This record gives sequence, C-alpha cells and structure tokens, in this order.
Amino acid sequence: MAVEAVPVRIGILGMGTVGQGTVRVLQRNAGEISRRVGREIKVVHAAVRNPARLQGLRLDARISADPWAVVRDPEVDVLVEVMGGTGLARDLLLEAISRGKHVVTANKALLAEQGNAIFSAAQQQGVMVAFEAAVAGAIPIIKAIREGLAGNRIHWLAGIINGTSNYILTQMYREGWTFSRALAMAQELGYAEADPGLDVDGGDAAHKITLMASIAFGIPVDSFHCHVEGIRHLEAEDVAFAAELGYRIKLLGIARRRPEGVELRVHPALVPASHLLASVEGPFNAILVDSDAAGQSLYYGRGAGGDPTASAVVADLVDVARTMTADPSNRVPHLAFQPDALSNLPILPMGDVESAYYLRIRAENRPGVLAQVATVLAEHGISIEALIQRERASAESVPVVLLLHRCREGSLDEALGRISALPVVHPSVLRLRVESLAEG
Ligand code: NDP
Ligand code: HSE
Repeated sequence: MAVEAVPVRIGILGMGTVGQGTVRVLQRNAGEISRRVGREIKVVHAAVRNPARLQGLRLDARISADPWAVVRDPEVDVLVEVMGGTGLARDLLLEAISRGKHVVTANKALLAEQGNAIFSAAQQQGVMVAFEAAVAGAIPIIKAIREGLAGNRIHWLAGIINGTSNYILTQMYREGWTFSRALAMAQELGYAEADPGLDVDGGDAAHKITLMASIAFGIPVDSFHCHVEGIRHLEAEDVAFAAELGYRIKLLGIARRRPEGVELRVHPALVPASHLLASVEGPFNAILVDSDAAGQSLYYGRGAGGDPTASAVVADLVDVARTMTADPSNRVPHLAFQPDALSNLPILPMGDVESAYYLRIRAENRPGVLAQVATVLAEHGISIEALIQRERASAESVPVVLLLHRCREGSLDEALGRISALPVVHPSVLRLRVESLAEG
C-alpha cells in the first residue's frame, strides 16, 4: 500500500490524561493508523502549560505555552481539544472553525452546553466537529447511534455513563469503602473530572446523555433542561437494602422519546440484579439502546482514563482524515439528522415521568407509623409492592424501606410532601427510581 507523503497535521490543546493518551496511542499504533487512513497522522503543534507533562512522550512537535498559537498555526489541519472548560475552550474551538480547521474534542461539558452554536458554526464553515470521546470513553456509542442504528426509530436509551460514580458505587457495594475513600482513588486513577463534583453530582452524565439524546432523536442539544441527581446522598444501607430487594444501585442517564416530548434525566436508580447493566462494575460504562428494528442493543467498555479515551479521539481523527476532502454535504451530520430536520420535541418535566420507586423513610419506632404512611400513599393512588422494616429494640427511629408500584412522579411528590410532614417521620425521605429496563 502506498501511504501518501503528506501527513494529516494535528494541533493538540492540553496534555493531561487524555492529551498524553492520544499522543501515546498515535505513536504506538502509527503503522496501523497509516494503513487505515492511507496517510500518516502527525502531531505538529501542542499547547502545554506544564512542560513536565511531556516527560516520557518523545513528542517531535512545536510546543507552545499559548493555546492560541496552536489554533492560529496555518500548518495545523485538525485541532484536538482535550484541555476542558467551557470558556477559553469555546473561544479556541470557534476560532479554529472560523479558520476552516476540523475539530476533535472530548469536551462533553462544552458541547452539551454550547453545542448548538458550535455545530452551526462548523456547518457554515463546512468543517467537522467530532466528539466520540465526549461520551463513554472507549465505547464507540456516537458512531453506533448515529450510523449503526441509522435505520431505526430509537425509543429510549439508558446508560451507566460516569466511570467515577460507577467505580465509587462498586467499591461501596463490594468492599464497603466510604464514599470519600472511593472518590480519592477514582481521582488518583485519572477517572474523575478536574472538578469531581461533576462526576458525583451527575453533571458529567447529564452532559453525555444530553448529547446522546440529540443524536438519537434528532433534537437540539439542551443540557439545561436535563433533570440531574447525583450519588452523594446515598448511604451504605441503601446499597444493602437494594441488594436485599434484588437490585443494584447505579447512576443512570436516561433519555426516552414519548409522543409529547422527551424525558431527559440523570439519577441513581435501582436496576434488577439479574440485568446485564447491574453487572457493569468499576469505571466501566454501558449503554442500552431500545429501538424498533434492532430491539435492544448493549454497548459496554471502558468509560474513562487516558488510553481508552484516546482510542475514541484517534478513531475520530481517522474519520476526519478519511473524509476531510469529501463534499461536506456528503458527510454524516454532526447531530445525526440533517440540521434543517431537527425536531422541536420539548424536554418533559419530571412530574410527568412514570416509574416505580424505592423509598427509605426514618420513622419513630412505634406501632401505627407504617399505617399512616401507607394511608397517604393509598390516598394518592400509589400501591406498595414490598416492604422492609427492621426492628431495633433500643432505637428511637428505624429505617422503613418501601418498594412502590409504578406511578406518576407528580403524584408521588405530593404524597412525599405529606409523608415528610408527619410528626412520626423524619423529614429527609430518600426516593430512588426503579428502572426495569424492559423492552419497548
Ligand atoms: P486533565 O486535567 O488531565 O488535562 C487537561 C490539560 O489541559 C492539562 O494538561 C492542563 O494543563 C491543560 N490546560 C488546561 N487549560 C489550559 C490552557 N489554558 N492552556 C494550556 N493548557 C491548558 O484533563 P483530562 O485529560 O482528564 O480531560 C480533558 C478533557 O477530556 C476534558 O474536557 C474532559 O472532560 C474530557 N474527558 C476526560 C476523560 C478522562 O477519562 N479523563 C474521558 C473523556 C473525556 P496543566 O498540565 O498545566 O494542568
Ligand atoms: N470523569 C468521567 C467519568 C471521565 O468518570 O466517566 C469520562 O468521561
């Protein structure tokens, strides 16, 4: 095979976990990549704030402390943005696009919050903005939804899409670690965001499910209306109660198309212990897609870390290198659907969501309490499927765990307002959704 003499020239912003991983994978697999593309992919310019980041990389490229120097470098054909943030990174990306450069980014926060403007600028300039690495690390889920399932009407997707949270929940369940010990280890292993609050409070998963919802349903990117709950408030006893009831607790991102709009939500949920998603552990991610022709398909792999994320960045570089000379109108649209064919389905309020629920109530340790709770639920048309109440002779309050049949979240909210006001109940009632993940 003749490999063309002219390489595709890459400029890279950020040399942290993902930046270093990208350089390593490009170097390690240079021969395989050239055989696939027909050209070499070469990093010619890198923005590096801290030169210590280059140790051990043998990077034969211009190095600048100023990221603008990379963006403005006429020798850079494709910009790889792996520095993160939504301010400077946006300005740099838009500048690169205005100069006709293609962009590959792992920055889900930026795309989920400002993707519409970025994709529209790229559309006008006829350049690509590729973002496989922004969702679920090494799993090629963007390609799977946008291209592999292009013949389907997608009903819903549900995913474990934050490696840090899944690692923490796994360590709490398997090893009995505290939340803070597990988080510190996730940071040391390079899974966590620079601000780990994004991981454990659900924001990172919200960015990812927002991007997937857009390409699954052909709607504009709208992370602002995504409902977000994290895992900080979970206690070890909830993990244990869930197991006793036959469930595992997972932080899920869920997007579901309904005739009247789209459910878009991130929250911890109970999933049946026998379901494949329940066995996704550690920093691994998995996304379950339910669509009309394919039925259910499951995508599993490493969701975070240097090399796994670099796998996606480099795959995007290969895609860009292969199609950069093609007529822009023949490329896969950024959001899978033609830009003038996006739908304006609204994001639905949580009150309209229907689900089964887990409640953990702390109640006074005396007769009749349960009857009061059950009465309020019954008055809102909500029925109880299972119940755990631990007798603790000496304790003043006891945890009462209820598994509820499916109901409208709005009705449950009203019932919970009344239950938490009962004098015999502690006001902090924990409510988790239960997802059966059944087909359809
Ligand atoms: P890191 O914090 O490890 O690396 C970011 C790098 O960008 C650092 O080297 C930092 O410099 C550099 N940087 C930041 N601002 C500037 C600036 N103004 N000028 C020059 N360099 C700058 O982050 P990650 O590699 O983990 O993440 C990068 C992006 O990839 C983020 O958008 C993240 O959300 C995304 N991502 C990360 C994954 C992961 O597993 N880590 C997985 C998927 C996506 P310095 O060395 O001085 O700190
Ligand atoms: N912090 C993210 C996670 C990195 O833990 O999943 C991958 O996007």
